[in-house]
Amino acid sequence: MKRMDKKTCVVTGAGRGIGAAIATAFAREGADVIVTDKDLDSAQDVAGQIGGQARLLDVEVEAHWASLADEFPQIDVMVNNAGVTGFEDGIAPHDPENATLETWRAVHRVNLDGTFLGCRYAIAAMRAKRAGSIINISSRSGLVGIPAAAAYASSKAAIRNHTKTVALYCAEQGLNIRCNSVHPAAILTPMWEPLLGTGPDRAARMKAFVADTPMQRFGEADEVAAICLLLGSDEAAYMTGAEINVDGGLLAGSAAPPAPADA
Ligand SMILES: NC(=O)c1ccc[n+]([C@@H]2O[C@H](COP(=O)([O-])OP(=O)(O)OC[C@H]3O[C@@H](n4cnc5c(N)ncnc54)[C@H](O)[C@@H]3O)[C@@H](O)[C@H]2O)c1
Repeated sequence: MKRMDKKTCVVTGAGRGIGAAIATAFAREGADVIVTDKDLDSAQDVAGQIGGQARLLDVEVEAHWASLADEFPQIDVMVNNAGVTGFEDGIAPHDPENATLETWRAVHRVNLDGTFLGCRYAIAAMRAKRAGSIINISSRSGLVGIPAAAAYASSKAAIRNHTKTVALYCAEQGLNIRCNSVHPAAILTPMWEPLLGTGPDRAARMKAFVADTPMQRFGEADEVAAICLLLGSDEAAYMTGAEINVDGGLLAGSAAPPAPADA
C-alpha cells in the first residue's frame, strides 16, 4: 500500500517548480493527480511524465474553479501552491512606499484570492467523505516582513492566517478536513530566475541570498514536496491549523544573535 493510494489530489501551479515536485511525489505514492496551471502546456508536460491529468486553472478566475468543481466534485487532497512574487515581468518597486495599487492587488489576486477560492472549492469537494487535507503553500515571507516585496509578504501572511480559519471552521463543522500551511524559504525554482539573472555574478548572488541561512544553501523543490506528502497522507491525521517551516533553519534564530563580549 502506497502512502497516497486511492487519493484524488489537485495541485495548482503544478506546471513547474515546487508544484511540479509535489504532483510528482504524490503520483509516485499512488495518487491520482490533477495537474493544474494557468499555463496548460506546462501542466500537460508534467501530467504526461507522471501519469496524471492536466487542466487549465488560473487560480484567480472563479469560473475556472467552477469548471473544476463540475468535473471533479470529489477530491481528497488540495494543494494551493500557485503563487507569484510580482517580479515575473521584471524588477519593479514592491516596497511599501513605491509599490502601485495595481501591482499590490495583482499579487494578492493570485496568492490570496487564489488560495481562498482553492480552499472553498476543496471544502465542498471533501464534504461528501467528510475528510481530506488542504495544504496551503505560504512562505517564510508570510512570517516576517520583507521590505522589497510588500505585497508578496502580506499575501503570504494572510494565507497563513486563512489556513487556521479554514482548519477551525472544518473542525467546528465536525469535518475531518485538515488544513495546514507550509513555509519554504529560498527554494531553487524558476521563480528565482529574474532575481538571479544569468550574468557572471549569478553564483555570488546565489551565495548572498542564502548567506543568513544556517544550512548555507538553497532548498530543493523535492524537499518541500516531501513535507506536503506527509501532510497529504493519513500519517498527519492529527495535524490541522499547523504551520511547517522548510527553511534550512532560517527562522530558528536571528541574523544578529546575542554573543558574549570578547574577553
Ligand atoms: N521558490 C521559493 O523560494 C519559494 C519560497 C517560498 C514560497 N514559495 C511559494 O511556492 C509556490 C511555488 O513557487 P515556485 O518557486 O515553484 O514558483 P514558480 O514560479 O517556479 O512556479 C509557479 C507556477 O505557478 C503558475 N502560476 C502562476 N500564476 C498562476 C495563476 N494565476 N494560476 C495558476 N497557476 C499560476 C506558473 O505558471 C508556474 O507554473 C508559490 O506559492 C511560491 O510563493 C516559493
